[in-house]
Amino acid sequence: MAGTPALQASGLSKSFGGVLAIVDVSFTVREGSLTAAIGPNGAGKTTLFNLVTNLYRADRGTVSCFGVSLAGRTPDAIAALGLVRTFQTARAFPGMTVLENVLVGAHLRVRARPWQQALWLRPVRHEEQAIRRKAEALLEVVGLAGRRDDPAMSLPLGAQKLLEVIRALMASPRLLLLDEPATGLNDVETGDLGRLLLAVRDAGVTLMVVEHNMSLVMGIADEVIVLDLGRVIATGPPAAVQAHPRVIEAYLGRGTETVWEMI
Ligand SMILES: Nc1ncnc2c1ncn2[C@@H]1O[C@H](COP(=O)(O)OP(=O)(O)OP(=O)(O)O)[C@@H](O)[C@H]1O
Ligand SMILES: [Mg+2]
Repeated sequence: MAGTPALQASGLSKSFGGVLAIVDVSFTVREGSLTAAIGPNGAGKTTLFNLVTNLYRADRGTVSCFGVSLAGRTPDAIAALGLVRTFQTARAFPGMTVLENVLVGAHLRVRARPWQQALWLRPVRHEEQAIRRKAEALLEVVGLAGRRDDPAMSLPLGAQKLLEVIRALMASPRLLLLDEPATGLNDVETGDLGRLLLAVRDAGVTLMVVEHNMSLVMGIADEVIVLDLGRVIATGPPAAVQAHPRVIEAYLGRGTETVWEMI
């Protein structure tokens, strides 16, 4: 249905003991948009992803993805709906090459039946070849094609983060949640990542990106959601959010540089 949001959260709350991690949070991610979620450390961004993907059970509130309620669905069932995520602390899988790390992301999406795979029939071979071509094209986009046969763990941390993003893309998501994909990336890698995310959005995939790198966020986001102490304090296009007094206060109040000095 036209106008159905990719993601809609209403009244989400979650506490851990006495810590109110998420407090009555509601937001919408428009289909086809690149929406960023920002906020100081501990604001609740990762918890929000954990609630959306049912890794944690919300104390209150509801989430729907493309109009389908996610209540009671397992993380695997949610992934099967096309909602794929990455993790803030994720690293490459050890013992595998760069290319193998990317191919892992496609495994759930191989539609061929086991007996077809066993007999190596044509449809399977075509599917495997298409998956491999896609993996190689994505490695090319992030500048890692030349390292495809190297052990993935030999890549610098920044390159491992890029690898994680393209592994998630191998699952052909409709909605992709990325938790701090630019952490550990140098300026060149951050530029590559930004171009990749815009290309992914332009290919029709909706993105929700948690990120601390403000120049990246302000350069690529269509919409920004700002969290502080578990609450949404502002939403809107980057320019409007940048000028929002509560956003400036939230960052200044932590004794850090202002968000705009970091740009
Ligand atoms: N599993 C947990 N058990 C207890 N407290 C938790 C748990 N997960 C998160 N918290 C607390 O909830 C609050 C929000 O944490 P969260 O990790 O969501 O923040 P964040 O915005 O992702 O921060 P960062 O930018 O540092 O990644 C913090 O006070 C954190 O200590
Ligand atoms: Mg986090």
